Amino acid sequence: MKILVVGSGAREHALIWALAASPLTSRLYCAPGNAGTAELAENVPIAATDIAALAEFARRESIDLVVPGPEAPLVLGLADRLAEAGIRCCGPKAEAARLEGSKIFTKQIAAEAGIPTARHEVFDAPGPALAHLARLSPPVVIKADGLAAGKGVVVAATRAEAEAAVRAFLEEGRLGEAGRRILIEECLEGEEVSVFALCDGERALFLGAAQDHKRRDEGDRGPNTGGMGAYAPPPVFSKELEAEVMGRIITPALAALARQGSPFVGILFAGLMLTREGPKLLEFNVRFGDPECEALLPRLKSDLLPGLLAACDGELGAFDLRWRDEASLAVVLAARGYPENPEKGGVIEGVDAAGRTPGVLVFHGGTARDAAGRLIATGGGVLTLTATAPTLREAQARAYEALGRIRLPGGFYRRDIGWRGLGKV
Ligand code: AMP
Ligand code: GLY
Repeated sequence: MKILVVGSGAREHALIWALAASPLTSRLYCAPGNAGTAELAENVPIAATDIAALAEFARRESIDLVVPGPEAPLVLGLADRLAEAGIRCCGPKAEAARLEGSKIFTKQIAAEAGIPTARHEVFDAPGPALAHLARLSPPVVIKADGLAAGKGVVVAATRAEAEAAVRAFLEEGRLGEAGRRILIEECLEGEEVSVFALCDGERALFLGAAQDHKRRDEGDRGPNTGGMGAYAPPPVFSKELEAEVMGRIITPALAALARQGSPFVGILFAGLMLTREGPKLLEFNVRFGDPECEALLPRLKSDLLPGLLAACDGELGAFDLRWRDEASLAVVLAARGYPENPEKGGVIEGVDAAGRTPGVLVFHGGTARDAAGRLIATGGGVLTLTATAPTLREAQARAYEALGRIRLPGGFYRRDIGWRGLGKV
């Protein structure tokens, strides 16, 4: 089979790595890819958001399966375009991708499906929103409805902070169209986990749970990033919780989407808060998480490709995937200045040595080769190193041992990835 993976991060490198191992794969392409994907696939210089060019490439090359990594192409209708051309896409059409594109849509689906989630109200004008805030006691959460690249959620500890966020979104239009409507939401307390399910429009297959570290600095402080690390499975996530999340959150969401004529095919990512009253939905995403994907896929024993095909073909009913009974931990090496202003062009050394550490895989994020063939950093999250081991603690030790072999001037990583989970084992 000829397969096209869309995207250019470490998540896409991990997908390529898993698909390259399948005996069913004959050709692999990545658009646009990075220096890591280039070693296992042919990189194609098409941006992940250029829907027309991606669809045209898939048609011309008779691609059998397209696997989009990020949400943007799905929200823009890549799956719709490919369906018109009769090409399989392991990702939802634009209607169902609204689960990630609109937080208000997600709340509507949650209400219809009886999915537990934070109480909320929707506003499109500052006056009523501020009046509503005056009746609440902080903390409260202010959310822009649309896609806002991580800048659309403010967990406000004080009323002043909450009011400032309302004004920024609704008065100053700081997020443009994405912030034209907002939600004011109850603040949930507990541990956050990410749960992943492969979906065929009707049925869902559990792909694992993970916890990620979004903040730049140790102790989960500092600015939000695209992710500094992740680990799986989270010690807090029991078999009972898995059954509860699949039965009360994932499957009802699929049923609600199917009832309204927009069945969900692809990878559904539920961001959950494990509250004292049980798991509650924070958000849905319509793709794998990054760096959760890099932590999850190395634990997969089965061939990923037949699973993705079964999802596309509505045949997950008779399907199962097998997982290694091991822990995995992924650490991101970031470029100096990340996330505000990451430095580009730094030369990366030691990747091969790091990759020879037992149980360790090196996934490339922002990397390229320069004219001399040297590996250079081109983005914020430069590499993700994943270690698997019998225990989370051993996985952590292996990941850091491997990171010690890599050199990138000014590059940095958090030394405490996994701390929340390790506190529980
Ligand atoms: P979201 O994009 O909805 O996942 O929000 C980004 C982050 O904000 C989440 O990962 C949570 O850490 C936090 N968050 C979102 N909604 C809530 C909530 N209702 N209560 C507490 N924290 C929240
Ligand atoms: N790691 C969170 C995300 O991919 O959205």
